Amino acid sequence: MVIRDAQISDINKIFELAQSLSYNDTSLAEEGFLVSGYSEDNYEKFLGKSFFYVALIEEKIVGYRLAVEVGNPAHLQNYTSFHRVTWLSNELFEVDKLIYLAQSGTAVDYQRRGIASATLQHLINQNPNHSLFCAIAEKPLRNQASISFFEHKGFQRIGYFKPEKFKNISEYMSGRYALIKKK
Ligand SMILES: CC(C)(COP(=O)(O)OP(=O)(O)OC[C@H]1O[C@@H](n2cnc3c(N)ncnc32)[C@H](O)[C@@H]1OP(=O)(O)O)[C@@H](O)C(=O)NCCC(=O)NCCS
Repeated sequence: MVIRDAQISDINKIFELAQSLSYNDTSLAEEGFLVSGYSEDNYEKFLGKSFFYVALIEEKIVGYRLAVEVGNPAHLQNYTSFHRVTWLSNELFEVDKLIYLAQSGTAVDYQRRGIASATLQHLINQNPNHSLFCAIAEKPLRNQASISFFEHKGFQRIGYFKPEKFKNISEYMSGRYALIKKK
């Protein structure tokens, strides 16, 4: 497996992979799902302004990870909703360096082979002193695959996020999960 930075020529494949893992296909819920409406254009805007990796097996993109550094203006310019996202969890104000794990996905046929683990480890290797956090859907559908993945990596639930309206999904709620680096 090769992990490298995403490039513009990868965007179409990343978009297709994300679409294939979309929340709209609830038959896949046990494998996890993405509550994301990113277009190819949205993904492209993250290039060079995020931690954006692809995982390849035999030159085929089988996984990706997108993360942004909190406090990094370039990273956050695509994240207008960021304050709403963070303020529910006081623990996150107490760390110096923080990365928000925005999205990750592994092609269904390649899951449970350590691909998401490898892209997460790549991010940690590049940012060994950062704390990490993410949001995982709990209602109306619980993303158990993702919860199990992050708990396996030592993340703990530190709060929740419940907007009045979220991507037209009624009763949406996500849990906040974090891996806090001790000072
Ligand atoms: C969540 C997801 C990214 C995990 O990717 P992956 O490449 O299969 O993960 P890994 O193989 O690195 O898993 C590492 C460990 O996490 C846990 N885990 C991963 N997927 C799991 C699942 N479906 N059920 C239970 N535990 C799971 C296991 O402990 C696993 O270790 P094991 O296989 O030795 O038991 C993948 O299921 C996925 O793409 N889901 C759809 C999109 C999504 O939910 N993304 C996350 C939200 S942004």
